[in-house]
Amino acid sequence: MKGIILAGGSGTRLYPLTKSISKQILPVYDKPMIYYPLSVLMLANIKNILIISTPRDILLFERLLGNGKQLGINIKYKIQEKPNGIAECFLIGKKFIGNDNVALILGDNIFYGNGFSKVLEDSVDYFQNFKLKKSNDGGAMIFGYPVKNPEDYGIVEFDENNKVISLAEKPAKPKSNFAVPGLYFYDNTVIKKAEILKPSERNELEITSINELYLSCNRLKVKTLGRGMNWFDTGTPKGLMEAANFVEAIQNRQGFYIACLEEIAYTKGWITKKELTEIIDKLKNCDYKKYLESLMLLPI
Ligand code: TTP
Repeated sequence: MKGIILAGGSGTRLYPLTKSISKQILPVYDKPMIYYPLSVLMLANIKNILIISTPRDILLFERLLGNGKQLGINIKYKIQEKPNGIAECFLIGKKFIGNDNVALILGDNIFYGNGFSKVLEDSVDYFQNFKLKKSNDGGAMIFGYPVKNPEDYGIVEFDENNKVISLAEKPAKPKSNFAVPGLYFYDNTVIKKAEILKPSERNELEITSINELYLSCNRLKVKTLGRGMNWFDTGTPKGLMEAANFVEAIQNRQGFYIACLEEIAYTKGWITKKELTEIIDKLKNCDYKKYLESLMLLPI
């Protein structure tokens, strides 16, 4: 399975923070925002990743993450010329996706919680099973996350078997209180679906339209994320602050880092102890270095 991180957009709601820089490079407590969605793809065991951003910002991400070799992964980069909508990523990433399934995560979405790695691994396995059978019929998988104010989100309605009944964008009268976060898994037909999409009223290729196409052929599943899960959309000053406070609280109380990319790569065996030592040796004295040093004591 391939992975795409969409890290472009206008960042209007974060102005003037975003006047000269991408929001996905802004700090969420102690790391650039893009570390968090990248950690999700890595936890899903996705090692081939495409980062899409604006002509102005793409170099920042390349400078930050390079080709991914230091993390035992492959990172490629592509430009989205204009914020033409989330679903455009499947057109931009067509060659990158090739004949594979693809996971998309929005660059401003943060996920953290008990059992999440298992949810991710199971989702990828589900799609890979179809691929092993040479079937291109995996469909699409979205997630449902309970929220207090469903009117402010894209909402999914589903039955007792988690079969999706309807999707609605910021509905005045929500049919459920489950929001759809910015993480989606698709079979390879997503490319063809994106190719036939027409821009919406706000002139964007909408991800909801892709999901509706899957729904119309009965191929859209939803997995609910329980109350042990945390999801943050960091696209507003308040969301950004809340996410930073959350990361700070967890890291300083538990001592575990959220989205430490080297930790994930090391514990998955994608980089060796020697490679981790080389990374540590290049760092000046900082808390992040101390954390990486503590990983060397793990029984791996
Ligand atoms: P949004 O938060 O919907 O849009 P935005 O980032 O442009 O912010 P604002 O609404 O404040 O102007 O985008 C969700 C994510 O998707 C975010 O990480 C940016 C990314 N994105 C793109 O990369 N390209 C796009 O065309 C759009 C619409 C979003």
